[in-house]
Amino acid sequence: MTEAILLVGGKGTRLRPLTVNTPKPMVPAAGVPFLTHQLARARAAGVEHVVLATSYLAEVFEPYFGDGSALGLHLEYVTEEEPLGTGGAIRNVASRLRSAPGDPVLIFNGDILTGLDIPALLDVHRGSGADVSLHLTRVEDPRAFGLVPTDATGRVTAFLEKPQTPEEIVTDQVNAGAYVFRRSVIDTIPAGRPVSVERETFPDLLASGAHLQGMVDSTYWLDLGTPQAFVRGSADLVMGHAPSPAVPGPCGESLVLEGATVAPDAKLSGGTVVSPGAVIGAGARVHGSAVLPGAVVGEDAVVTDSYLGPRTRVGARTALTGAVIGDGADVGPDNELPAGARVWCEATLPAATLRFSPDQ
Ligand code: GDD
Ligand code: MG
Repeated sequence: MTEAILLVGGKGTRLRPLTVNTPKPMVPAAGVPFLTHQLARARAAGVEHVVLATSYLAEVFEPYFGDGSALGLHLEYVTEEEPLGTGGAIRNVASRLRSAPGDPVLIFNGDILTGLDIPALLDVHRGSGADVSLHLTRVEDPRAFGLVPTDATGRVTAFLEKPQTPEEIVTDQVNAGAYVFRRSVIDTIPAGRPVSVERETFPDLLASGAHLQGMVDSTYWLDLGTPQAFVRGSADLVMGHAPSPAVPGPCGESLVLEGATVAPDAKLSGGTVVSPGAVIGAGARVHGSAVLPGAVVGEDAVVTDSYLGPRTRVGARTALTGAVIGDGADVGPDNELPAGARVWCEATLPAATLRFSPDQ
């Protein structure tokens, strides 16, 4: 039996206002909390026991996922009193693991949407005899990630988290946020203090001669760290570009969940999801967007690549592109917000007054 640790304690600061009331892994993507997709994928790969390492807004996970039986999993929750960082969080849950010292333990960042072949990563780990194996992906701009150069055999030669200077950009291979640790290696992480697995554990392991093995692939991979990425991830799940057994309906241009109301002449496309209790008005066009429970899109509104939080209102004829509307916010009619606009939770924007009208 393989077990897994999920790191879900980050603050998700860059995702605000989506994360004001909801921790990042619980923000819905394709109609269910994002974490559901990761858990379902782990289950499909044979994982049965998952420990969630929580910190920020920790109290919301357990009421939703319970003991995990609805997903066929046994779930446990461990909450840090103070955030312990990625390595500290891993060490802090070690006592809950049942694996023997030589067994592999999967570890996932809680904000990655990926088609990673989990059994293949386990095979690489077993086949190479590594202490730690890492999923790596290639990105155009690696500066926001952990750079992981490897030798011709895939063995990791360095780990450079968030490189600061051009000289440090030695590869386009980055840490994709999924690891296999030999259980005994987890026990060597210092306990009781913050530790960054990226800045401390990996460099220390390399310096001590440990074997870190990389597995590079070109499968679907997206870090959901920004609202734009989150919206895209949700749309890719709906359209089936990102694989998940937890999408609550058939994949296609749109997903309308039970209890949603969509006017017959409204147009939904590009992976739009419309959640229970949401209403899409007559003539509205909604493309590539997530419409959360209770949100209302007015008549003839045009919403593109946007995230409409729970209970939000978008007025008639308003146009939004790449916008993020926080929980309960109200954008009045006839507005055209600048692309990428973020509207804070419960904010109210009045109807636009500067529109051309024939008698002016
Ligand atoms: N429990 C707990 N406690 N979890 C934490 C803590 C903590 O103190 N800090 C961060 N996490 C969780 C986050 O919730 C997230 O799931 C994961 O650890 C990674 O943290 P991020 O804050 O999202 O890191 P990042 O995106 O800047 O960088 C990481 O991911 C990149 C890939 O997306 C690093 O692992 C990079 O090396 C990697 O390239
Ligand atoms: Mg991240």
